[in-house]
Amino acid sequence: MQFFDTMIARHSYRGEFEPNPIPREDLVKIVTAGIHAPSAGNQQSQRFYVVTDPALLAKIREIFQHPGVATAPALVLLVSKLLKFGENDSPFELQDYGAAAQNVLLAIADLGYSTVWTDGQTNFNKEFQEKIGSLLNLDEDATVRAVLPVGIPKTKGGQQLPRKPFDELVRFFE
Ligand SMILES: Cc1cc2nc3c(=O)[nH]c(=O)nc-3n(C[C@H](O)[C@H](O)[C@H](O)COP(=O)(O)O)c2cc1C
Repeated sequence: MQFFDTMIARHSYRGEFEPNPIPREDLVKIVTAGIHAPSAGNQQSQRFYVVTDPALLAKIREIFQHPGVATAPALVLLVSKLLKFGENDSPFELQDYGAAAQNVLLAIADLGYSTVWTDGQTNFNKEFQEKIGSLLNLDEDATVRAVLPVGIPKTKGGQQLPRKPFDELVRFFE
């Protein structure tokens, strides 16, 4: 798809997925899109965990109950690392992760798959964070921000939600 077509076609999909496995090369393309996102100071604090292993999928499904996660043939976990930025802890891990997340979402849509950004259900969920951290043996400075279920949607025809009027969001000074 052309870039602007992909941007408009991308939408959140919260339903179940077909069981068709996703070719590894597509998963590589999806995370490569995330790698190419900009990051503060080019620190690249974003990490991507791709899960297709049935045993690990089952364990993640136990700790995050979600129709998409329960049926998707692949999960892409978006992880951020709190890296040092100069003297201070980087305040940019959320921005880095957000930029990477959008690239990943666009790549998923462009390849004809669906997903949803689950940040609201995972990012600040303490119980989920503790369980996923120990399941994946994450370093102290790493946080799973979102679990993206990826696959071919069972329910077709979804669309982006309507956006606010252009003039409410944009101002030209010309
Ligand atoms: C930071 C962030 C967190 C989100 N968290 C969730 C979530 O926890 N669960 C969910 O179903 N959708 C979540 N979404 C998806 C939004 O609800 C969705 O993007 C928005 O309603 C617009 O719909 P669209 O993606 O179809 O355009 C999140 C999106 C963003 C950017």
